[in-house]
Amino acid sequence: MLESYLTLKAEYEIVPMQLQDCAEVAALHGERFTRVWGDSEFESLLTQNTTFGFVGRQTNAILKKALPGFVLARNVAGEAEILTIAVSTRLARSGLGWRLMQAAMREARNRGGETMFLEVDGVNQPALGLYRKLGFETVGERKAYYVGENGAKSTALVMRRVLR
Ligand SMILES: CC(C)(COP(=O)(O)OP(=O)(O)OC[C@H]1O[C@@H](n2cnc3c(N)ncnc32)[C@H](O)[C@@H]1OP(=O)(O)O)[C@@H](O)C(=O)NCCC(=O)NCCS
Repeated sequence: MLESYLTLKAEYEIVPMQLQDCAEVAALHGERFTRVWGDSEFESLLTQNTTFGFVGRQTNAILKKALPGFVLARNVAGEAEILTIAVSTRLARSGLGWRLMQAAMREARNRGGETMFLEVDGVNQPALGLYRKLGFETVGERKAYYVGENGAKSTALVMRRVLR
């Protein structure tokens, strides 16, 4: 019994983000980013009809676990944008970021999105790897845009992908 529990492979479902998810979303965001967004920031974004999000939830957890991952995006007049995405460090590189991005791209397309944009720190290798694998290309940069915890400045890359 214990052995099968310990070897259980996590299974996830990707479901639309609801207002009641915002506290967990803000908590995970706070773990993964230095600039913390409060629950109310997520709530106010999610109540705008141009904004949408998805959360990844484990479907076979025996005990309730912290939220595995989320993505928040927006679509306005054919232009979609990833506002933020995060996956728990304990689940890094298990394919959840990919699935969340696929869900956001599909929903943006359903809402009439033609292209999707996002902004990423040029030193963020996991995110850059994910976006490049999804077909995003760098279309602009803002030098010395981000300031790391040690004061080091890094370039923000603007990336784009055609959705059609
Ligand atoms: C970026 C992030 C969402 C990726 O989520 P993830 O679930 O670990 O990513 P996935 O497992 O779906 O990986 C998909 C692909 O992304 C790339 N990738 C993921 N982690 C990587 C890493 N550490 N180094 C290089 N490429 C990486 C790979 O191409 C990977 O495909 P592969 O495993 O078949 O090689 C996650 O690292 C994260 O939450 N980071 C902190 C928050 C953040 O930086 N958000 C983005 C801000 S723009």
